[in-house]
Amino acid sequence: MDTLIPVINKLQDAFALVEGGSPIDLPQIVVIGSQSSGKSSVLENIVGKDFLPRGSGIVTRRPLVLQLFNVPSKNGADAADAPQDWGEFLHKPKERFYDFAEIRNEIERETDRLTGKNKGISHMPINLKVYSTRVLNLTLVDLPGITKVPIGDQPKDIEAQIRNMIFHYIEKQSTIILAVTAANTDLTNSDALQLAREVDPEGKRTIGVITKLDLMDKGTDALDMLMGRVVPLRLGYIGVVNRSQADINSRRSITSALEGEREFFSTHPAYRNVASRCGTSFLAGNLSKILMNHIRDCIPDMKQKINVMITKKNDELATLGDPRYDTSPGALLLSIINQFSAGFIEMIEGKANDDRAVE
Ligand code: GDP
Ligand code: MG
Ligand code: NA
Repeated sequence: MDTLIPVINKLQDAFALVEGGSPIDLPQIVVIGSQSSGKSSVLENIVGKDFLPRGSGIVTRRPLVLQLFNVPSKNGADAADAPQDWGEFLHKPKERFYDFAEIRNEIERETDRLTGKNKGISHMPINLKVYSTRVLNLTLVDLPGITKVPIGDQPKDIEAQIRNMIFHYIEKQSTIILAVTAANTDLTNSDALQLAREVDPEGKRTIGVITKLDLMDKGTDALDMLMGRVVPLRLGYIGVVNRSQADINSRRSITSALEGEREFFSTHPAYRNVASRCGTSFLAGNLSKILMNHIRDCIPDMKQKINVMITKKNDELATLGDPRYDTSPGALLLSIINQFSAGFIEMIEGKANDDRAVE
């Protein structure tokens, strides 16, 4: 049912190499929120691994395209004899990272490589694939957190730069916005929801995630927020509880944290009746479905754009000469598109039909 997602991942890889960014807008889910709202924690919980750089200040300084691939487990295999999970970077093809702490180091190295040590930001994405029996097929783009205060010798206009980067992603109709807000902050003042509203005023392609439900004042709860009675969103809100800083300091495992999260929702007087629609596992399943339906909706438009590009590039080519000896960006783009388009359109239509047949 979710086979469309890996197909889009292939296009994402091909277009990542194109100078000046992806020539067509791919359907994707982009994660936004203020610094410390809990974005990294949500992503780590979805993946079930500690693998993202942590620290104060702007830790995410390049977009991270995180592609999750479900590896089917063998019949009856339990976690112990299931194949090991691993990660792979597009910039280090064929190198498998089995140690997720090494993935974190590599993200840090690769971030510094392009942004230097002054903690600036770069638009060039880092592309990471994670293969695991415990993930659903799902692709998420993590962006720098919305921040107010530059630190050290960071550019003074860092907030504007980050907002521009976020806008560049979320203004596209092909982007689903995952807007993360902490429950102990005012939802009506949420940076994430305010930014989302500027490009999606009717709340048609924004999903809300409310983190830190465990940190709300005693006697208060987030039911009104979660039910969409404060800021309505068509795709709704999902509440989660991630590890606290104390949990992280004491190296609490994600498995234990996920158990704690289930326990929190199923025993909390305000949430136990809606517990099945709360938490990380519901969030991951929901996102995977939303992304797949969204890709399906985007297919006709993508197909048309790809056809237009092929025609245009072929016309250009007629005036250029032999593309095999042409190393210009135009010729490179053409070869990528040609490589992908025919097969891609066939594949994507085939998959879309398969998916319909399965449902
Ligand atoms: P990011 O800057 O948006 O990526 O936020 P992080 O995921 O790094 O989280 C910032 C801090 O909030 C960390 O200390 C987390 O442990 C803590 N945190 C995140 N989510 C929760 C939550 O649901 N409950 C609690 N108690 N702490 C959380
Ligand atoms: Mg983060
Ligand atoms: Na926020």
